[in-house]
Amino acid sequence: MDKKPFFITTPIYYVNDVPHIGSAYTTVAADVYNRFLKQEGRATKFLVGSDEHGAKIAEAAEKSGKSPKEYTDEIVISFKDAWANLGIGYDHFIRTTDPEHEKTASIFLQKLYDGSFITKGVYEGLYCVGCEKFKSAEELVDGKCPDHNRAPEQYQEENYFFTLSKFQIELENLIESDKLEVRPLERKNEILGKLRQGLQDISVSRKKVEWGIPLPFDHAQTMYVWIEALINYYTYGKPNNLWPADLHLIGKDILWFHAVIWPAMLLAIGEEPPKKIFAHGFFTISGAKMSKTLGNVISPSELIQKFDVDGARYLLLSSFPFGTDGDFDWARLIEKYNADLANGIGNLASRITTLAAGIEGVVLGTDAAMSEVVSPIFKKWQAAMGELDFYGATVATQELVKICDKYLNETKPWALAEEEKRTVLKNCLAILSVIAGCSYPFMPQSMERIFSSLGLTVGTDAWGKTVLFITKNPQLFPRL
Ligand code: MSP
Repeated sequence: MDKKPFFITTPIYYVNDVPHIGSAYTTVAADVYNRFLKQEGRATKFLVGSDEHGAKIAEAAEKSGKSPKEYTDEIVISFKDAWANLGIGYDHFIRTTDPEHEKTASIFLQKLYDGSFITKGVYEGLYCVGCEKFKSAEELVDGKCPDHNRAPEQYQEENYFFTLSKFQIELENLIESDKLEVRPLERKNEILGKLRQGLQDISVSRKKVEWGIPLPFDHAQTMYVWIEALINYYTYGKPNNLWPADLHLIGKDILWFHAVIWPAMLLAIGEEPPKKIFAHGFFTISGAKMSKTLGNVISPSELIQKFDVDGARYLLLSSFPFGTDGDFDWARLIEKYNADLANGIGNLASRITTLAAGIEGVVLGTDAAMSEVVSPIFKKWQAAMGELDFYGATVATQELVKICDKYLNETKPWALAEEEKRTVLKNCLAILSVIAGCSYPFMPQSMERIFSSLGLTVGTDAWGKTVLFITKNPQLFPRL
């Protein structure tokens, strides 16, 4: 039995703008996984936060005529609100402007310096403020960063460098052996391939960026925002006895920072690297990249308005496999909502509880034949969830819905005599409770309503033989 709680993190988001569903995607996934682990009986800690320093934020603040601190204080509220509206049950929200973080980041960099992992050099190249990273000429389209549609700036200044190149072999071994698990597997291979091409030392400071944490060993420079941001996990994790982190959930664009730079920084100060990093794919909207310029940015609140919080959470994770790229369009989201939720789980719950309402002494439990059908699907769901295959887990759950629907249609309990009716309903109620259990991490609010209509409270073993008084379930997902 692991004594340390499972420590799960999301990226800390840039607060240069309000959240969109790209940011919500990782956060909802982390919340679903966190709830799954709790359901499995694991103690967990779940960290979210905001990335508040650097040129990108300073630029956005200036445009709005505010100081960076005033600006981030305002935007961070919209992130906290978005997470509350999406039912994200995090344990802590870290801000990189928190004094605790500024202190930890300084100590961390001082340790790197004392251990001779910091050297001085000249930093030269093309820098995209939007990405807050160096760009190679091949990454540009018509001389511009394709992600931000702006030309990068030519930088040349004397900076401090972290000796990343010293860690190549150690990192290769860690990732190859899965001591540091990088998932999905194609991402692991991609990182290993890049690692084998060799590593260069990286700049960890900026001379001209004022909005940042001063280097402890040279106050004329501030920390490079990415280096400082990665340390957030440690700022919270270390003093709370959570280190090493068990899972960093991120998007594929920031994998190199997490799977290479961050573990090397930790190894340099004698700390353990994280245990697992999972990089999910990107989604597009109706085939196009989500961007303000195209005007196709979807906010979490728009999704919630249309599908309610549980519908929004479900659709974000069930529309395509978590590790791959995928596309969203409103028509397909509505179709999926209707199929899986309104006509699927919602309709099934309402059918079963209506039939069972008022029938005293209906017990919940599958008979042997039904157990044989349901058990393997439940195991499939469990295995999928364990591997963060949220899509696979929802497919398995929908299989249960279809089996139960079919069983109802074939046995026609409404036409049966009381005793036989009870036998059928016993199976149906048990399957419904399993469906609610499998859906709970995705849609906690609605599933709690199913549980309560079954006389169950969340956390109760759904397979227990409990005598129930069933009340009619209110309609869960109104048809659109
Ligand atoms: N601040 C850094 C992270 C530092 S972590 C120590 C950052 N922030 S971000 O706000 O730009 O992006 C955060 C996350 O949102 C990334 O994991 C990114 O992959 C994800 N997404 C942004 N747009 C997305 C989509 N369109 N689709 C899926 N996820 C995307 O990077």
